[in-house]
Amino acid sequence: MAEFFGVIGDLVKSGLAVAKQDYRGDQAESYDLMQDWTGDVDYYLSLAEKHPGPVLELACGTGRVAVPMAQAGHRVWAIDIARDMLEVFYRKLSNLPEAAENLNISCQDVCDFQLDQRFSLIIMPCFSFTHLTTAQQRRQMFARAFAHLASSGVLAVHTPLWVSDEDWTGNQPRYSYKRSRGTQQVLTFHQVRPEAPGLVTLNLLHVICLGNGQSRLEAVACQEYRSTPDELKSLAAEAGFDKHFVYRDFKQNPVKPGDHAAILIAKKEEGQ
Ligand SMILES: C[S@@+](CC[C@H](N)C(=O)[O-])C[C@H]1O[C@@H](n2cnc3c(N)ncnc32)[C@H](O)[C@@H]1O
Repeated sequence: MAEFFGVIGDLVKSGLAVAKQDYRGDQAESYDLMQDWTGDVDYYLSLAEKHPGPVLELACGTGRVAVPMAQAGHRVWAIDIARDMLEVFYRKLSNLPEAAENLNISCQDVCDFQLDQRFSLIIMPCFSFTHLTTAQQRRQMFARAFAHLASSGVLAVHTPLWVSDEDWTGNQPRYSYKRSRGTQQVLTFHQVRPEAPGLVTLNLLHVICLGNGQSRLEAVACQEYRSTPDELKSLAAEAGFDKHFVYRDFKQNPVKPGDHAAILIAKKEEGQ
């Protein structure tokens, strides 16, 4: 498990904040509250329109992207390593029978998955690639994706980038965002410490205001990987992809130095 440090570390050590594991237990239950962004869904829908056929989402979580794609009529396979996230996903589907008919969900590692299906489109949205902290994991993920793509298929990976002169937080938490659900509010703070080029330790602090004047603090520590546009392209080339492009946004503008995130689009050659 990654280390807690700085102010968030002190809160955990003193027992004021409870240490939690990302994507496990109640962190999985509250994922949809913390991650209510929908700004990428239209982009993945448009890719699926351009590349008709079965879609695979790598690291699907609770189905934030897979559900609207299945609702739009696409046949979607979705894999994730965290059973608790998939539990939330299954529960959601019990109220969405039409989407459920278009979905095949399984608990698998993106570095080591096996499905008896080839896909026209494989997507890895929402910075899930950041969890592949070793070079071997990243290479394996690209190789597995390539092996599962149909001829002319496309892989799309949205991921944060390494910015070498980043304004790191040091030991002081920085305010990230506020989310509301019913009478509850969650204020999230973060600390980021660089460990090596590309590798950071991230600490999150969630201040959960329960709506009755009481609050509780939860903290999560994890290691994350931040790639570079050149590394994304060479991973794609090494896996066998014929063409690869790195964009800074969903309008597909070219990536620029200093950008904090990018989308890789890698195409498998026709006939491969
Ligand atoms: C930020 S969430 C993204 C979830 C979803 N794709 C979305 O867009 O909301 C990251 C997900 O990556 C999953 N994950 C991390 N490492 C993984 C691995 N090696 N194989 C499969 N899933 C993984 C986590 O369990 C988590 O559900």
